[in-house]
Amino acid sequence: MPQVTFLYFGERSGEVEVNTSLLEAARTLGLPLNHDCGGNASCTTCRVEVQAGLDQLSEIDFDEQDLLDREALSEPQHRLACQAKVLGDVIVRVPGGKWEVPS
Ligand code: FES
Repeated sequence: MPQVTFLYFGERSGEVEVNTSLLEAARTLGLPLNHDCGGNASCTTCRVEVQAGLDQLSEIDFDEQDLLDREALSEPQHRLACQAKVLGDVIVRVPGGKWEVPS
């Protein structure tokens, strides 16, 4: 199974099933990411930066690219965690403020 590593204040990694979204992978590893639109590619609150393994994620589709372009996040390392599916090992940095505040 692919290994996903999230970098934030330190790192956490674990294995997930192929085709798991990065958003779901984060949840599985106990790191809840913000996802204000519920994973519908319309908010960018789940945006992450891929540090390694960009080619081990599903291809970016029109809706995801369009939203990232509108938010001036067109560099290839930017992905929406709710849309990017894990195909192989990846390392992802989570920008500050993207974690859910524990309630
Ligand atoms: S949760 Fe809104 S774009 Fe991913």
